[in-house]
Amino acid sequence: MVMSVILAAGKGTRMRSDLPKVLHRLMGSPILEYVIEKVEALGCDPKAVVVGYRQELVRAAFTERGITWAHQADQKGTGHAASVGMEAAPGFTGDVLILNGDLPLLEMATLEGILQRHRQSKADVTVLTCEMIRPTGYGRIIRDKKTGSLQDIREDKDADEATRAIREANVGTYVFKAPVFRDAFLRTRCDNAQGEYYLTDVVVEAARSGARIETFPVPDGPQIHQINSRREQAEVSAIIRKRLLEEHMDAGVTVEDPLTTYIEKGVRIGRDTRIYPYTYIERGTEIAPGCEVGPFAHLRPGTFLREGASIGNFVEIKASEIGERTKARHLTYIGDAQVGSDVNIGAGVIFANFDGKKKSRTIVKQRAFIGSGTILVAPVSIGEEAVTGAGAVVTKNHDVPDRDVVIGVPARSLHRKEG
Ligand code: UD1
Ligand code: CA
Repeated sequence: MVMSVILAAGKGTRMRSDLPKVLHRLMGSPILEYVIEKVEALGCDPKAVVVGYRQELVRAAFTERGITWAHQADQKGTGHAASVGMEAAPGFTGDVLILNGDLPLLEMATLEGILQRHRQSKADVTVLTCEMIRPTGYGRIIRDKKTGSLQDIREDKDADEATRAIREANVGTYVFKAPVFRDAFLRTRCDNAQGEYYLTDVVVEAARSGARIETFPVPDGPQIHQINSRREQAEVSAIIRKRLLEEHMDAGVTVEDPLTTYIEKGVRIGRDTRIYPYTYIERGTEIAPGCEVGPFAHLRPGTFLREGASIGNFVEIKASEIGERTKARHLTYIGDAQVGSDVNIGAGVIFANFDGKKKSRTIVKQRAFIGSGTILVAPVSIGEEAVTGAGAVVTKNHDVPDRDVVIGVPARSLHRKEG
């Protein structure tokens, strides 16, 4: 059984942010989510995550995922963080996979590969390495000139010119035999540029005491990207964005212009749906087959478009279900609504869902016709085949019966005398 420890206690100083680095988002999902998903897929048990800086925020973002939280009160370095993570399972004597929390693109095959290499070579410690074209910012692997074995890992900050010229670098993922880690950590010191207990020094201490150190090299590429800065965050986001669009296209979705289309992680789209340019679809959105979305549409969390729905330019939808073949083609806001099938929503319609204190729901039943410029003040419901005239303001709790026609401000029925 493999235990995992994800290091996520740091502030992420180089992000220049009040938010913990691992909570910064990549296409709608926190950086840490991408790492947690991988240890879940590997079946690691326990899955420890080390938190510290604003830990309550990090914990709240990942409830119900079977995580064993470990608290690193002071950020004394990656080695110290790893030891705190291992305290989550004090009796554990198997292999422990230790991952930096800022490596969202690591591939499953790489993690499976390093675990396999570690076991097959009967190593005490295995380090993920990479010959990088641009190793700046990574610890460099220093090897013994004669034997080629790993001798030291030197941080960029602690390195001289000659060491900086080394292109083999430490990716930030390790497998340790748990007892070897514990033993080497006891001997690890913090006499470096940052005054921290480096995880890399735990590796080196283990090597000095005769432990068997293996390296598992991966080719240079996106998966080794760490996120230390906002620039790196943007680079990784761009890679993920492209991949997500490709997945949708492979599943039968037309994306007219991938360069201007943003579809966050956690969006489901049915086949033969067409997404037009300049569209932004947030996580937690579901789109049935055969819909049209955009150009310039914005779908926010909780949007569900049923089959054949058509959402046009400058339409924003949030937490709403839109029925089959229903159209909202121009300049509309729909929030907290249940809209039936074959409804026509004219230009400039606003679902006024917020009264300044609370949000309320709007129901629009099938085949209703919502005239241009209508404002529906929630909570309110519009009956089947009912019509609202252009510019009507349907005030809260003044439900419009089936097949009624209402006009004006506030909207009144054309069919009945006002009583
Ligand atoms: C680390 C490695 C470096 C490697 C690089 C690649 C060390 C000393 N250096 O450097 O060799 O090339 O990753 O990814 O390990 N963290 C804690 N507690 C702490 C400090 C950090 O939990 O006290 C966490 C951070 O939240 C982060 C991870 O550990 O998720 C890595 O820390 P970071 O500061 O990004 O390390 P690097 O300087 O990038
Ligand atoms: Ca890092």
